[in-house]
Amino acid sequence: MAVAFTINGKSVDVDAQGQTPLLWVVREHLKMTGTKFGCGAGLCGSCTVHVDGRAVRSCQTQLSDVAGKKVTTIEGLSEKGDHPLQKAWLVEQVPQCGYCQSGQIMQAADLLSKTKNPTRQQIVEAMDGNICRCGTYPRVVRAIERAAKEG
Ligand code: FES
Ligand code: FES
Repeated sequence: MAVAFTINGKSVDVDAQGQTPLLWVVREHLKMTGTKFGCGAGLCGSCTVHVDGRAVRSCQTQLSDVAGKKVTTIEGLSEKGDHPLQKAWLVEQVPQCGYCQSGQIMQAADLLSKTKNPTRQQIVEAMDGNICRCGTYPRVVRAIERAAKEG
């Protein structure tokens, strides 16, 4: 079945089973590989994208769930890669291996869209489900604080 939705501002029709995880649709059908497969079970956050502006785990979201909706991936967060979070990420040199980072940024972008000046506690709580095996957590927090201040 073909499911129509918008991704990063473009309308698409994806012909796949309705229960196909959005993560596979993004990576395999649409060839956007910035969104990563980590656990496939909703436990790590590396697959985080936005659906209608809210962070979701794309491994736990079915294609049929996004019919008619707006999906945003890391590729579409900003036109030139200059979202305040992306700029702060560079200044704070957050990534180590990089694998978890698109999910971290998409999760953080959801937080800042709802809470312009989050406390450290709010940041830690919002980012709690995004795992980083390289332990970049202190830099993630610093970058979110910087983006909130400078954004
Ligand atoms: S791959 Fe989706 S939460 Fe881990
Ligand atoms: S930077 Fe390596 S998993 Fe987070």
